[in-house]
Amino acid sequence: MIKIEAIIRKEKYEEVKDALSAIKVSGMTVYEVMGCGAQGGYTELVRGNIVEINMLPKIKFEILVSSEEWEKKVYDTIAKVAYTGNNGDGKIFSYDLRNVMRIRTGETDTEAIN
Ligand SMILES: Nc1ncnc2c1ncn2[C@@H]1O[C@H](COP(=O)(O)OP(=O)(O)OP(=O)(O)O)[C@@H](O)[C@H]1O
Ligand SMILES: [Mg+2]
Repeated sequence: MIKIEAIIRKEKYEEVKDALSAIKVSGMTVYEVMGCGAQGGYTELVRGNIVEINMLPKIKFEILVSSEEWEKKVYDTIAKVAYTGNNGDGKIFSYDLRNVMRIRTGETDTEAIN
């Protein structure tokens, strides 16, 4: 089992959510987050002063999947839909997941995901 996290542009939220639903992921969690990447934000002119804007609002997805095959599907889908080619498109990363339980049934591991 694998946990995938993706941080993407806010304006890509609807499109990514719909694309993940379309490939039939079994669930997802979404957060509004603040973050910065390699550029450390950007500068903006505010009332004549250059102001450093470090943290930008982003959207974070968390998706649990049962196999590497599903991991690849989710990566490919997000990478395709969240892409603009400009700085700030975001990142996708994944971890090995120790356990999951579906509270209603008591099912664990991959049974709790599928
Ligand atoms: N090293 C990191 N650690 C944790 N979160 C990160 C890291 N890099 C990026 N993020 C998260 O991803 C968001 C988008 O990052 P961003 O796409 O700007 O990454 P980048 O490495 O600067 O790539 P790019 O050069 O395309 O802008 C950030 O706002 C932050 O929330
Ligand atoms: Mg960046």
